[in-house]
Amino acid sequence: MSETCACVEAWFEAFFASHGAPTATDAARLELKRFHCEMVRDEARALARHLELPPRQITLAAVAGLCHDVGRFPQYQRYQTFSDPQSVNHAVLGVQSLNRHGALAGLPERDRTLVRTAIMVHNRHSLPPALASGRDREALTLARIIRDADKLDIVRIMLDHFNRPGEKDPVVFLGQPDIPGRYNPAMLEAIDAGRIGSYADMTSVNDFALLILSWINDMAFPWTRHQFFVRGHAKGLFAQLPELPQLATFKKRYFEYYAPTSS
Ligand SMILES: [Fe+2]
Repeated sequence: MSETCACVEAWFEAFFASHGAPTATDAARLELKRFHCEMVRDEARALARHLELPPRQITLAAVAGLCHDVGRFPQYQRYQTFSDPQSVNHAVLGVQSLNRHGALAGLPERDRTLVRTAIMVHNRHSLPPALASGRDREALTLARIIRDADKLDIVRIMLDHFNRPGEKDPVVFLGQPDIPGRYNPAMLEAIDAGRIGSYADMTSVNDFALLILSWINDMAFPWTRHQFFVRGHAKGLFAQLPELPQLATFKKRYFEYYAPTSS
């Protein structure tokens, strides 16, 4: 607890509890995000430790990880969606919530800025050039840690939901239709070109699996890419895709290019 700041943990729990869920489905969706925040906190802390960062930066990774998605609670309460294009930018909403409640008041100003920055950029397609330049090394490292930790835990959530029997939750799958055999070749092109896929190019839940597979191109640390394979995430995502020759070829290419040679 001390490595996350007890006051931030307490605020997080109280803030979550202040967002009522009218139905069991609402409660499950909000709980999914609460648990996701805790998992990203733990992933970010593990990554920061792996990088042998100083204790202060390990604490900041844990704080930013825990708080990165607090905007999801008011977003869902107001709009009943986790889709930013259909509502608001949840990163901005999260930082506004932290500011309004003085949730980071226990941290020095510099550290508050670092945490806010990491949260603000965690859901951007790419990092803003000024941050990516690395002039502020601490800010860049923290932002990268949160983006990597977030990706790893989203894979866990999505695989869990992919593997559940029955209808797919439209809020979790951002309204993508479950149409067997449908996928957008633009997703494969993006991955082959070393890019990440675009949410706007998704046409089905299959594209959601491909989108997540494309994140390998935006994982900043070798540790994260390694975890993606050794935890079976890549394999699990490919298992969701239809059995089509072009996808089988693509899978072979993907593993040959990205899989760590030791796994
Ligand atoms: Fe997020």
